[in-house]
Amino acid sequence: EPIWKFLPLFLLAVILLLSSLPLLVYHSLVIQMLHVQQYPAPASQRNLSILLWHWPFGRSYSLSGNKCLEMYGIGHCFLTDDRSAYPTADVVVFHHQELSNAASILPMHLPRSTAQGWMWLSMEPPVNNANVKQLNGVFNWTMSYRRDADVTIPYGETLPGAGMQGFQSALKRSCFASWVVSKSKPNQTRVNVYQSLQKYIPIQVYGKWKKKPLPDDRLLPTISKCLFYLSFENSETKDYISEKLWRNAFQARTIPVVLGPSRPTYEEVAPPHSFIHVADFKSVVELAVYLNHVAADKQAYEEYFKWHKTHRIKTYTDWRERLCQICLKYPSLPTSKVYQDLDGWVNR
Ligand SMILES: *[C@@H]1O[C@H](CO)[C@@H](O)[C@H](O)[C@H]1NC(C)=O
Ligand SMILES: *[C@@H]1O[C@H](CO)[C@@H](O)[C@H](O)[C@H]1NC(C)=O
Ligand SMILES: *[C@@H]1O[C@H](CO)[C@@H](O)[C@H](O)[C@H]1NC(C)=O
Repeated sequence: EPIWKFLPLFLLAVILLLSSLPLLVYHSLVIQMLHVQQYPAPASQRNLSILLWHWPFGRSYSLSGNKCLEMYGIGHCFLTDDRSAYPTADVVVFHHQELSNAASILPMHLPRSTAQGWMWLSMEPPVNNANVKQLNGVFNWTMSYRRDADVTIPYGETLPGAGMQGFQSALKRSCFASWVVSKSKPNQTRVNVYQSLQKYIPIQVYGKWKKKPLPDDRLLPTISKCLFYLSFENSETKDYISEKLWRNAFQARTIPVVLGPSRPTYEEVAPPHSFIHVADFKSVVELAVYLNHVAADKQAYEEYFKWHKTHRIKTYTDWRERLCQICLKYPSLPTSKVYQDLDGWVNR
């Protein structure tokens, strides 16, 4: 047989092999990436021990087993609330509230290893962090929603990739706007804005303030009936964007009307065209006019939900998930840092 008779077959084999190469390479890359993303172990493969000195607000959760790995895919990271682990803990975490009201005290009487780091933890804005001064010169690191904290744990974040389905159009909503508020202080900006805004648009108010509490399982269903949700923070302070945006508004699939940090801060963390900022309007009347316009214009309303096609929201609510984040950050935490002026940092 002349060799050229096999040429077509040979060429076909070569073409098949070559065309599948990129796919093979791509495949192995994807597998590598998935692996890295699922198990982002600390640079040192050493096990880290994170001791939570007391539970935030007195509510405890189970830490048995390997919670960081089981629940969040974070390896080599062990959480404990057993104070006998103190001598060998890599990080000791202190939640601020219990220190400030003396429900818990710092173990200043115990010897402190120079390799151990103490972490100050608070998810509250400065107004709710009383008595910080007494803690100056004690902590190595801070953990907060603030983006300049050593460990930043936001209430929520925007991730690429389409998320939730089932958008409910404006037509199906039976309520204009709602607001859930537990405490109202006179003179608070959010209260002032509400007081004037409710003259122009109907606002359903829930929560302790109006003695209309919403149980947890009623919260999102109730808010989701409304076109808008007032995501008004209790104070307008650096980076403070709470679950009032991430859970109450976004998870209920309503348009948040936000009052808090400046628009650029929201733009950096929230999905594109996903909120209406109070400060964009010269007056409350102009804000009300705009809300009425969006409510009446189907296209304008649905514009605010386009981001669902390209982005999704992740919320952080479990203290354990927050604590596990320490291990991811641990290799890059500064050494020999001490917050000599924690009070200044908190109130900056
Ligand atoms: C880390 O902890 C796991 C589970 O307790 C254990 O099996 C492993 O040997 C430890 N690794 C190191 C380096 O100590
Ligand atoms: C934390 O600060 C103390 C001093 O207050 C220091 O001795 C210790 O080395 C620091 N820890 C770390 C991990 O930097
Ligand atoms: C708060 O209210 C009081 C009187 O009601 C007023 O004198 C004061 O200027 C107000 N403060 C702010 C920050 O609006």
